[in-house]
Amino acid sequence: MKKRVLSGIQPSGKLHIGNYFGMIQRMVQYQEKSDLFLFLANLHALTSSQDPKILQQQTEEAVLDLLALGIDPKKSHFWIQSDVPEVTELMWILSCVTPLGLLERAHSFKDKIAKGIDASHGLFSYPILMAADILLYRADIVPVGRDQKQHLEIARDIALKFNHGYGEILTIPEPDIAEDVAVIPGADGQKMSKSYGNTIDIFAEEKELKKRVMSIVTDSTPVEAPKNPDTCIVYQLHKLFLSSKEAKALADRYRAGEFGYGDAKKMLFEALWETFRPYREKRAHLEKEAGLAGKLMSEGAAKVRAIAAETLNEVRKAVGLK
Ligand code: ADP
Ligand code: TRP
Repeated sequence: MKKRVLSGIQPSGKLHIGNYFGMIQRMVQYQEKSDLFLFLANLHALTSSQDPKILQQQTEEAVLDLLALGIDPKKSHFWIQSDVPEVTELMWILSCVTPLGLLERAHSFKDKIAKGIDASHGLFSYPILMAADILLYRADIVPVGRDQKQHLEIARDIALKFNHGYGEILTIPEPDIAEDVAVIPGADGQKMSKSYGNTIDIFAEEKELKKRVMSIVTDSTPVEAPKNPDTCIVYQLHKLFLSSKEAKALADRYRAGEFGYGDAKKMLFEALWETFRPYREKRAHLEKEAGLAGKLMSEGAAKVRAIAAETLNEVRKAVGLK
């Protein structure tokens, strides 16, 4: 049987090329070789959202984005987290076996508190909801970024504790942390992230995209002088779109001189614009088909709800609720 691979993504803003190369492209590949479960974690997004219209809109946009980028509901399970309420019941049951200390040690919670973000109980119990996401669907493998590694360890600890108390009921998930997927830099050289305002968005308008690419920070080496491609953010981003032969040819142009950062940026813009063209077209097409995304999402939820109900039934029985 194919391995069950599950991951979630918060619908908390526009998707950028860091998300694409760090996560979405991997999901599309997983879809071909495994049983992929992918959902939009809007219940998690609620821990940092105050505006209902924005959350709703970002969720709808993320559905279209992911469909356009190649997530295929015929080959995978793709749904919106809150459409399967079983997950919150499982979360409650799991929270009754979760030691408080486990949550108190979570870096992500501690970091947010340190940044002065008002702490809600939702933010504190975020890892239990994530454990419920994973355990409800009996995921074998969970691909996540490095930042989510500890959350996954917490999910495993909760599952082991539950099984220890109630019998071998839950599947213990294995993490798949892409250590080799480089952290993709943003326009200012820091990690590309929505929270740093340095993103290059996949579905940006042409003018906006050009402006973003032109704003990438470079040093002040003059046009004629040879340049080091390895320290250039424009090159690091462009390389993502090139074969190794093409990347080498571009690096040679940097080193030869008479090649300015302006030219390098124009070439990067072209690569971005052309690579994402088919996805943009597909997205525009999907957007026009009124109701299609909604329909696909209800079908997606119905499909996984059957699996969720089975697990939850077993869990309820095990703990004495049935
Ligand atoms: P952001 O930092 O913009 O808020 P998220 O935390 O929502 O992004 O990340 C969603 C997914 O994209 C995660 O799997 C994460 O590991 C991946 N990702 C985000 N930014 C990058 C980046 N700069 N380089 C590589 N992967 C990234
Ligand atoms: N917390 C994850 C993130 O912010 C999103 C997420 C929610 C998730 N539930 C999950 C990822 C379950 C993997 C498995 O990126």
